[in-house]
Amino acid sequence: MSRKRILTGDRPTGKLHLGHYVGSLQNRVRLQDEYECFFIIADLHTLTTKPEKEHIEGLTENIRSAALDYLACGIDPKKSVIYVQSAVPEVVELTLFFQNLVTVPRLSRIPSIKEMAQGAGIEEMPFGLLGYPVLQAADILLPRAHLVPVGKDNVAHVEVTREIARRFNYLYGDTFPVPDVLVAEYGSLVGTDGNAKMSKSLNNAIFLSDDARTVEKRVMSMYTDPNRVSADVPGQVEGNPVFQYHDAFNSDKKEVEELKTRYRAGKVGDVEVKEKLAKAINLFLDPIRERRAGYEAVNGLVDEVIYEGTMKMREEAHTTLALAKKAMGMASVWNRISRKAEEAKKKKAKQ
Ligand code: TRP
Repeated sequence: MSRKRILTGDRPTGKLHLGHYVGSLQNRVRLQDEYECFFIIADLHTLTTKPEKEHIEGLTENIRSAALDYLACGIDPKKSVIYVQSAVPEVVELTLFFQNLVTVPRLSRIPSIKEMAQGAGIEEMPFGLLGYPVLQAADILLPRAHLVPVGKDNVAHVEVTREIARRFNYLYGDTFPVPDVLVAEYGSLVGTDGNAKMSKSLNNAIFLSDDARTVEKRVMSMYTDPNRVSADVPGQVEGNPVFQYHDAFNSDKKEVEELKTRYRAGKVGDVEVKEKLAKAINLFLDPIRERRAGYEAVNGLVDEVIYEGTMKMREEAHTTLALAKKAMGMASVWNRISRKAEEAKKKKAKQ
């Protein structure tokens, strides 16, 4: 029996951070033995909010940086496929078929799409941005994936994928699995400033590629309990970013519990809590740094990994598109005409 498949990935918008790790990367690394994994670097999706040429210019570096972050986290290119979305043009054809299986009001109701428009300062909804989840459905169904591990904000998009898969199967016969969503345990990680979400644009992120010194600096300037004016005042642990990070990254659970107890009793200062956190995060990042250095040491290695993955995905895409077109009867449209034309040509040649 062949393994079930996973497809997931990211838009190449720059370096990945701890929020990406707990939101998705962690699950990917964990699942790559059990599933056949396809990791998409979704550069076409970035065009939905940033179609400008200056932006496109930066894509290559961002794609490399995402791939290197995956590899550093422990994605193994011998087991999993890492590929570039725009280098597999079949996705565009599948998107076009899928566009007919979903309505504009359905897409208009998805909050994340409106938020993306707002975030990018876009007033009127571009056709492509409205169709963002349809392109994502094509990503997911192109390798005929069964499971899609994502962060909370992408669950609604996977729901659209499920509806499209069902509709396709209903109209044309069983072709696609209806994929399940797997939402990360931690949801999204708060930013170092206490903002609900860690994000590069908010400058509240700790990156997987940050060195030890940078991590220390970022942690020491983190927000804690705003009502606590000095170390001898009882503090609030719940909702406190510093303790959320301790829970997520400090593997010494005894230390975390002890710090929480002392914090609640007003018996520990923020500085000690933060110093221990910085240490824990650096300990967590050390193996990631080591793997990163290993890949960086070999010139062209990351590009090679992306190249091989993309070639493998192209084969998959070819197979799926043939299946989809056959199911739809679209394959015959041109086949009938070309066959007849070839016959006629042969006849003519004989005369
Ligand atoms: N929408 C994802 C994001 O928020 C990126 C993405 C594109 C994706 N295609 C996907 C995620 C397919 C999971 C599956 O960046």
